[in-house]
Amino acid sequence: MNIAVLGAQWGDEGKGKIVDLLTPNFSFVSRYQGGHNAGHTVYVNGRKFILRLLPSGILHASVSCIIGNGLVVDPQALFAEIDEITAAGIDVTGRLFVSSKAHLILPYHKELDVLSEAKRGERKIGTTSRGIGPAYEDKIGRRGIRVGDLAEHASRQMLEDAVRHNVEARNHLIPDAHMDWREVLAGLDAIWTRLRPFVADVSVLLDEAIRSGKRVMFEGAQGTLLDIDHGTYPYVTSSNATTGGICTGLGIGPRHITGVMGVAKAYTTRVGEGPFPSELLDDMGQKLRDGGSEYGSVTGRPRRCGWFDAVALRYAVRVNGLDALAITKMDVLDGFETLKICTSYTVGGQALDHFPSEIGQLARCEPVYREVKGWTAPTAGARRFEDLPDEARAYIATLEEVCGVPVVLISTGSDRHDTILRSDSLAARWFTLPD
Ligand code: IMP
Repeated sequence: MNIAVLGAQWGDEGKGKIVDLLTPNFSFVSRYQGGHNAGHTVYVNGRKFILRLLPSGILHASVSCIIGNGLVVDPQALFAEIDEITAAGIDVTGRLFVSSKAHLILPYHKELDVLSEAKRGERKIGTTSRGIGPAYEDKIGRRGIRVGDLAEHASRQMLEDAVRHNVEARNHLIPDAHMDWREVLAGLDAIWTRLRPFVADVSVLLDEAIRSGKRVMFEGAQGTLLDIDHGTYPYVTSSNATTGGICTGLGIGPRHITGVMGVAKAYTTRVGEGPFPSELLDDMGQKLRDGGSEYGSVTGRPRRCGWFDAVALRYAVRVNGLDALAITKMDVLDGFETLKICTSYTVGGQALDHFPSEIGQLARCEPVYREVKGWTAPTAGARRFEDLPDEARAYIATLEEVCGVPVVLISTGSDRHDTILRSDSLAARWFTLPD
């Protein structure tokens, strides 16, 4: 039973808490895409951790964590994160593995990210400025530098040529700045010295683990609508956050993925630019932002907020093959008199019940809402489905109906224990919750 847990909206769905909570059911937690643009917030015993590159399972000493080839790794960001959690008493020695095929984010990528955004002007993507896009550009352009290229046995000449070529290209693009490729090259030796103990062929590692009956969780970063192929292009990240990214980003076959659980907030948020049909630009949007502390965990930017969008969710069910949904931040909706769920769109007066593939059409979509009753008794901290107010249970039933997928897990607060696992659901065969 190897389960994928991934974002069904525009990222920030609260995957970190869910992955951390379910981790004791698994031997491995593997990330398959993205980089330190992710920000997975996890609270353990009241202490807050923001994990960017490390899989959220890292907080559990008995679990091994994998950074797959599908990621782009900024070595300095990785080392800083390792230092941070080591200082908090969490040892990663012997249980953190980084794919030798993962591409590196190097100093020039960040500058190119900022430059590319500036050049786009009003059409900017609103990236996290971490150099993610440029590093993936180099990967696809076949000029990237991979972790394994730093090894003693790798060709020094090829590495030197690649560094020189990339730095010269960057110097050509950025006026009045001169980066010395020799310095970048020299810096790679120190990076390798520190990285070497973690480097592995993760495809082999996972294959052996799965064959010997060990269970693996696949942890997505960002979300379906930020996927480079299936998201709201061009307002997307540069990797495959959807299920397909698991196979390519880790080097495993699709039959090893036993189940797929999407994570979605009880409402919708988005950071960065791009169309967002159910966005609330009024006081209601601000109420969600305040109630849900909707400010980016990596960049601190205020998140755009809106009602739950079932059209987008049905799309996430289709492109990921979702078996089940986890709904997070249910408690943020406590105290709303009425709630709305977007069930379809109209474009120029015509009904549309699927998510359009063309961004211009999405920008013209008007949401069609179903209004439902809110609840006054709190859901905050509820740990059993029966303890939820009637209207909250009805809200979940409506989400299941309009999304066409069962809601198996509900998060009612930031603490690990503020979670409901529905005992009558498929997920009860996948995992148990810690006491
Ligand atoms: P990039 O990944 O930094 O290139 O940013 C591309 C788009 O993805 C921007 O709209 C970012 O705000 C968004 N994005 C990237 N990572 C995350 C995330 O972890 N959560 C939510 N949005 C993200």
